[in-house]
Amino acid sequence: MKVIDLRSDTVTRPTDEMRAAMAAAEVGDDVYGEDPTVNRLEEESAMMTGHEAGLFVTSGTQGNAVALLTHCSRGDGAVLGSDSHIYIYEGGGLSALGGILPLVAEDSGGIIQPDRVASWCRPSNVHFAPARLLCVENTHNRAGGVAVSPEDFRATVSAARDGGLLVHLDGARIFNASAAWGVDVKEFTGVVDSVQFCLSKGLGAPVGSMLCGSAEFISRARHWRKRLGGGLRQAGVLAAAGLIAIRKMTGRLSEDHDNAARLSSMLLAEGVDVESVSKPTNMVYVRLGPDGPDAPELSRRCTDRGVLFGAVSERRFRLVTHFGVTTEEVDLAGRTIIEELKAS
Ligand SMILES: Cc1ncc(COP(=O)(O)O)c(C=O)c1O
Repeated sequence: MKVIDLRSDTVTRPTDEMRAAMAAAEVGDDVYGEDPTVNRLEEESAMMTGHEAGLFVTSGTQGNAVALLTHCSRGDGAVLGSDSHIYIYEGGGLSALGGILPLVAEDSGGIIQPDRVASWCRPSNVHFAPARLLCVENTHNRAGGVAVSPEDFRATVSAARDGGLLVHLDGARIFNASAAWGVDVKEFTGVVDSVQFCLSKGLGAPVGSMLCGSAEFISRARHWRKRLGGGLRQAGVLAAAGLIAIRKMTGRLSEDHDNAARLSSMLLAEGVDVESVSKPTNMVYVRLGPDGPDAPELSRRCTDRGVLFGAVSERRFRLVTHFGVTTEEVDLAGRTIIEELKAS
């Protein structure tokens, strides 16, 4: 049975071209700065995002942790969205590793509103942890994969700047945001102090993320990466896949968005409660009514028929499109879900 895996875009496998490039990669010791393939990936990533320098890191979580540790000192505050990946899904790394206090603000629509950022920019006072950094996320995973618009993004970044904060972008899927809005990625990445984006996920590399920022920031970040055990040796075998990810895979993400829109329409046409998102990308969140199977049960039944997706809660589930799933498979998945809902 062919499996249609809609659990996440993290399930993508490296393309044949990536595997060939990995096998042929020119390598050296990257901790000595001598891996030419890593160096090329870092330079190209910096150029694409409008920054001076880049750093290859093992994962999105490591890239975000390195950024926070580099920007903040112990006891500093970082303004974080209450639904953000950094706050919810990264093991509390900022507090565990950096003694950084999360200053939490609502971001259920995908971005913290400027007035909420401003309210955390308080005058210096011994009672307060000094706010140092704002973290934003685009596309925003828990907000339905919404792509925040360049205008809304800039308004929030400006509020942070006015309040004297630095800004870090968790851009795990920032190329999905630029594809959705049809703008150069620098519209987002070029206005922040640092950005982390994932080479894995929709871009298909097997491992790795990039952290970009000023040359001075990246040289301090390199030190933090080493402290966290992220200094790799002949990492060019991984960077070779990353180069293909940024050169070739960023341009095809709108196909995944089209497939997600198709899936949404199919489900909506059958009266299924698909969550509406102002600018959707490759994620579809669905709510189930009080009757019929709950999300874990529906997921089990569909898994038995080769359609995989994850329950987010008892009555909510998520479908994620990516290059490992064709339009025909998306149609089959949609039909399977509808049949299982009707069967109950
Ligand atoms: C928005 C966001 N940020 C960061 C990450 C972390 O990436 P990684 O799984 O590579 O640590 C993810 C992973 O899904 C994510 O969705």
